[in-house]
Amino acid sequence: MNMTTSPNSDLPAPADNAAPAGDAPASDNVITSTTPSGAGHIRSFVHRRAHITPGQKEALDRLMPLWSLPYRRATLDFTKAFGRNAPTVLEIGFGMGETTQKIAAARPDDNFLGIEVFNAGVGAMLKRIDESGQQNIRIIQHDAVEVARDMIAPNSLAGVHIYFPDPWPKNRHHKRRLIQPPFIALLASRIAPGGYIHCATDWENYAEQMLEVLGAEPSLVNTSPDGYAPRPEFRPQTKFETRGLRLGHGVWDLIFTRK
Ligand SMILES: C[S@@+](CC[C@H](N)C(=O)[O-])C[C@H]1O[C@@H](n2cnc3c(N)ncnc32)[C@H](O)[C@@H]1O
Repeated sequence: MNMTTSPNSDLPAPADNAAPAGDAPASDNVITSTTPSGAGHIRSFVHRRAHITPGQKEALDRLMPLWSLPYRRATLDFTKAFGRNAPTVLEIGFGMGETTQKIAAARPDDNFLGIEVFNAGVGAMLKRIDESGQQNIRIIQHDAVEVARDMIAPNSLAGVHIYFPDPWPKNRHHKRRLIQPPFIALLASRIAPGGYIHCATDWENYAEQMLEVLGAEPSLVNTSPDGYAPRPEFRPQTKFETRGLRLGHGVWDLIFTRK
């Protein structure tokens, strides 16, 4: 693979000073970046010195080698990664992993590749995998933009889940929002024809942006003629959603399929 060519022309290729393949130790703190800098794009997250419990730390140390895959600038072989050939769904920003685990349990015939950057969340997800004995979840602790660009083959995903991505409510921070045209174009290119992308948010203004961006991507079709979709049964109510509802926010689901 040519390391200097991005499969998506709108997204820059990895910067020369980016970490080499496999150089992303799972339990290191997440990368801080407030500018495009070495990432080649504006990150949708910032470094968090979030509290990590002893249980999450122990899970990171013990279980990372079992259930996580290192970030590499090489296409991932899903059959090898999951030990079986099955439809694979990418979940971006799984947080503490409760939704991922519930959906993966309800859909045992699908593989779930969860991407998250922060340690406590990855530790929590690893604990859930360990305690539940579920076999159909794998984790990559890295920026999802780079994972999608570098590790996911075109036309390979059955679906993409992006639930309650950080809303970056201030206008001057909107550029950090994950749902932007170049990233949606990249994700659409990774979804197999007939596959889907499912987003949910409790920020009305972000929901409007999602509708506009997804609606403008020529390779995607909205499954709901009215715009927003009813919450599908397989998506349980998340912690962030529960909090949003308590604060009087609405919740908006969007489901588009790949032509
Ligand atoms: C508001 S939380 C939502 C978590 C979860 N989806 C839920 O509904 O409870 C957003 C999560 O996305 C993660 N995140 C943001 N940008 C990311 C990126 N580029 N790659 C991977 N994870 C990211 C954050 O670390 C955070 O845990």
